[in-house]
Amino acid sequence: MKPAIILHGGAGNWKSNKIDKAKKLLEQAADIGIKILKNNGSSLDAVEKSINFLENSGFFNCGIGSVAQADGKVRMDAGIMDGSTLKCGAVGAIENIKNPISVARKVMKKTEHCLLVSKFATEFAVKNGFKKINIKPRKTKKTLDTVGAVAVDKKGSIAAGVSTGGLGNSMLPGRVGDSAIPGAGFYVNEFAGAVATGIGEAFIRTVIIKNTVDMVQECKSLKEVAKFSLKTLKQKTSCEGGIIILDKNGNYAAYYTTKAMPWVYKRG
Ligand code: GLY
Repeated sequence: MKPAIILHGGAGNWKSNKIDKAKKLLEQAADIGIKILKNNGSSLDAVEKSINFLENSGFFNCGIGSVAQADGKVRMDAGIMDGSTLKCGAVGAIENIKNPISVARKVMKKTEHCLLVSKFATEFAVKNGFKKINIKPRKTKKTLDTVGAVAVDKKGSIAAGVSTGGLGNSMLPGRVGDSAIPGAGFYVNEFAGAVATGIGEAFIRTVIIKNTVDMVQECKSLKEVAKFSLKTLKQKTSCEGGIIILDKNGNYAAYYTTKAMPWVYKRG
């Protein structure tokens, strides 16, 4: 089976000079993922490592590029899921850790739980060897959002992951968005995986990503599925957003109702 990966850098009101840089970084992240997949690595590894690259870039609203909540502190969310087992791990409102997606993966691997939050997530990370660092909040940029990835490996296993600094200073301290919530911000099964970008509360209220992945089994075209989901999101919540989907055969869709959403797809 030919492996594949799709990544996005957030749906929003992107300026063209920023979008070129975003696409370049997403290309580099996709190269990291595809290299892992070509060398028989797992889709989970590809998703985690390509998102690590974006978290470390400082360019996107995740990892060291995260924005702050209303009290001036950076609290991040991330989630990762394995479609072949339906196992998932997530962290909500984690502080001072460079790579929340890797902590989320550790939650999945080392615990019986799906989600750890706030100082307990940070403590879990430190206990598991993650270094605490001081993350300086970047200026709120309404154009930049979550990063996300979906990959399928040579065995046909699909994984999905997301990482975000959230929505900026409109967020009450302790707010957790869709990126920590399976079914809302990310979901994957043995047939397909999808991730969301946009206002987290809208995706949580509609649980749109679980529905999106379920619809793939009904043999609809992936673009139609994404389009339908975002139309529903708009009807029910008045919010715009973006979705990427990948199925086990490497078919994909990237669809958004915002001005722009940088994304990249690569097949091995
Ligand atoms: N979609 C990112 C968030 O709302 O936190």
